[in-house]
Amino acid sequence: MDGASGCTKSPLWFGLNCFKLPSATVDSYNLSAAQNISFNEEKNGSFQAHLSEAETHYHEFVVRVLFIAIFLSFACGPTLEVRDGDSLVIKAVNNARYNVTLHWHGIRQLRNPWADGPDRVTQCPIQPGRSYTYRFTIENQEGTLWWHAHSRWLRATVYGALIIHPKLGSPYPFPMPRSEIPILLGEWWDRNPMDVLKLADFTGAAPNISDAYTINGQPGDLYRCSKQGTVRFPVGSGETILLRVINSALNQELFFGVANHRLTVVAVDAAYTKPFTTSVIMIAPGQTTDVLLTADQTPGHYYMAARAYNTANAPFDNTTTTAILEYKTAPPRNAKKGKQSTPIFPRLPGFNDTNSAIAFTSRLRSPSRVKVPLQIDESLFFAVGLGLINCTNPNSPRCQGPNGTRFAASMNNVSFVLPTRNSLMQAYYQGQPGVFTTDFPPVPPVKFDYTGNVSRGLWQPVKATKLYKLKFGARVQIVLQDTSIVSVEDHPMHLHGYHFAVIGAGFGNFNPRTDPAKFNLIDPPYRNTIGTPPGGWVAIRFEADNPGIWFMHCHLDSHLNWGLAMAFLVENGVGELQSVQPPPLDLPRC
Ligand code: C2O
Repeated sequence: MDGASGCTKSPLWFGLNCFKLPSATVDSYNLSAAQNISFNEEKNGSFQAHLSEAETHYHEFVVRVLFIAIFLSFACGPTLEVRDGDSLVIKAVNNARYNVTLHWHGIRQLRNPWADGPDRVTQCPIQPGRSYTYRFTIENQEGTLWWHAHSRWLRATVYGALIIHPKLGSPYPFPMPRSEIPILLGEWWDRNPMDVLKLADFTGAAPNISDAYTINGQPGDLYRCSKQGTVRFPVGSGETILLRVINSALNQELFFGVANHRLTVVAVDAAYTKPFTTSVIMIAPGQTTDVLLTADQTPGHYYMAARAYNTANAPFDNTTTTAILEYKTAPPRNAKKGKQSTPIFPRLPGFNDTNSAIAFTSRLRSPSRVKVPLQIDESLFFAVGLGLINCTNPNSPRCQGPNGTRFAASMNNVSFVLPTRNSLMQAYYQGQPGVFTTDFPPVPPVKFDYTGNVSRGLWQPVKATKLYKLKFGARVQIVLQDTSIVSVEDHPMHLHGYHFAVIGAGFGNFNPRTDPAKFNLIDPPYRNTIGTPPGGWVAIRFEADNPGIWFMHCHLDSHLNWGLAMAFLVENGVGELQSVQPPPLDLPRC
């Protein structure tokens, strides 16, 4: 807090400095000796484990196991740094007063949905005072991912970077940067976000907008009483650094830039891209973007800043978060009347500048030719968007949405409802009936002009827990079509357990006769989260090579809460290597 007048302590319900605690919440813990694992301590809390399990199969099988216990309260978490091929053993101890789960956003979790984390989808939540140990191996993935709570709105404060370095001895496909900085863009409410959600659930209206955005937990210079905490990144003149930008905001796409510096994009969502330079990136919640920045400007202080890219016709937080790139050789920032006393500010597009957003995303390409499925077994068309539930008594305090309704959202007119009795995956594995059905519609039940003037009769979705079944190995195409119901909007759609090729996008309604001709089947980018252009569509492809139940949802948590979700049930294939592993013994029960 600034000492300046008017700066009383704001009603924060936990400190903002959580990201400055280096590994403070990272701790080792002991496995029972019966598991036959011995450890040689390495630096920074990771361990070398020597597994000599069961004498035969894994004889001399050496894995690096990162051993972490995360104590969940309302504190942001540590950055996890691992290498491709590593196994992680993460004991989540719930010290909070809410049920919680953790999700490793973008990790494929092959045959291992038990470690994926979405509450009531792949597991029952960890109750207060209990724990659950997430065990998973990183298989052929490298780059920037992140982890976050996946229960209600807890991810507003419980999140961190998950950085996967290449296997030892394998280089980046670009010159080695001098240093690497995770940039976590967050969203801040002065109130407990769980209470914000609770109020919205009661009234049926949209949740209150946030009070600030943050960079690594700090709002920065443009907010009252935040100046002292502004994050500074020292850089040497001429050095190239890698910024691993992660949008961990709850409900907002963001533009991000650094004053006077070009950014060279080299990866998104832990998949490398053909490098290209830009002065601004657009990043949606759930997405990551790795950019190289060379400190080639006059030594000084430069703001990096993020603010909203807002596509819906709705109120939003239009504040700006900043951090400072500080050349080590720059004159001190507060030298009286010094030239450098105020950092230079980057030029960011206007909040509704869809042209700039699309200009950025449409430049993304895989580095070279990729193996996209060319034949398609499952051609799916999902209409995604908002909706309104009519109330019998529109004057009810519970119906404070537009015209006495309650907000909802849906995919193919199904507003997804999480089960209460069990998680989907546990119910499926145990053969427990009545928890879900598998009749999620492959196309909208009624065809209409999705982005036109939609008749009111089509605004009300149906609440249900419907999954879509996929055969192991099915080659899948999904066209995600935004609707104009209530408002058009960029919906950042995230698929768990997979990454997919983004083969095309456009405005208006997808045209199955003319649009496929324009698909990029050569070098489309791979992602785990992709936005529908507002009032447009985006097409993705993947092969269903990971059995289990995998959530697909809008990564705007307000929309997820309204039901903008569905799940795939990918059946087992043939044999153990194409089948879901047995669940761990400590998997929480509902
Ligand atoms: Cu990053 Cu289902 O979430």
